[in-house]
Amino acid sequence: MTSNTGKPDVIYSQTLEKVTDFVFDDKVADVFRDMIGRSVPGYGSLVSMIPVLAREYVQPASHCYDLGCSLGAVTLALRHSILGDDVKIVAVDNSSAMVSKCQDYINNDASDIPVEIICDDIRNIEIIKASFVALNFTLQFITPDERLTILKRIFDGMNNNGVLLLSEKICFDNERDQQWMTDLHVAFKKANGYSDMEISQKRSALENVLIPETLDVHKKRLHEAGFEKVIVWYQCFNFISLLAIK
Ligand SMILES: C[S@@+](CC[C@H](N)C(=O)[O-])C[C@H]1O[C@@H](n2cnc3c(N)ncnc32)[C@H](O)[C@@H]1O
Repeated sequence: MTSNTGKPDVIYSQTLEKVTDFVFDDKVADVFRDMIGRSVPGYGSLVSMIPVLAREYVQPASHCYDLGCSLGAVTLALRHSILGDDVKIVAVDNSSAMVSKCQDYINNDASDIPVEIICDDIRNIEIIKASFVALNFTLQFITPDERLTILKRIFDGMNNNGVLLLSEKICFDNERDQQWMTDLHVAFKKANGYSDMEISQKRSALENVLIPETLDVHKKRLHEAGFEKVIVWYQCFNFISLLAIK
């Protein structure tokens, strides 16, 4: 089974002499829609719920931020569901390959809700009058000791009753659950046509780049950043999504 979204991901399908750290370069951007759909359990269902969340939380005359936007899946879902007036979406990614493809998708999209696409590190982005902020599988690529600063800055730039959507791959604090969910994640990737070698080479490439933490650590950090209401609204194996309300 392969997804019908873009070029097929064959990046790790041949034996590599040396597996280097994963980067969001042209090669990855080219196959990213296929890659994320076949690698992140529940990704499609999660994104399909964004319109429901947008209608609930996006406020008139506010900003929405898609931090680590990649090809703009969240931005597009927001763009097609925002009802209020005078809303702008700011989509940010530090991969020029992703940003350039994201811009193409936005240019070919009919909605007239303004989108500003910025090629920069999310650590440099000022958040202002935000009613909806998405970190959809992005925070996991930032070193853990920098995560609180980012969340605090997001909290400070948000309107009251605004929402942060934080989606992450998580780990577990006991070996049994860790193995259990890892096995199911591997089974998911195999069901999507990835071979054992592809799965193993990709795992090595991501090892030092994607740092998962436990749900408890994420919840505590969100509270420390200032969010009082925090809840898991979505989970598929070891991939979760939280809502944090200011
Ligand atoms: C797994 S992808 C996110 C998927 C995307 N949000 C979606 O829903 O389709 C992670 C993205 O975060 C970007 N990224 C990682 N670290 C970043 C940083 N420090 N600043 C900006 N973008 C970053 C990567 O370039 C990549 O495009």
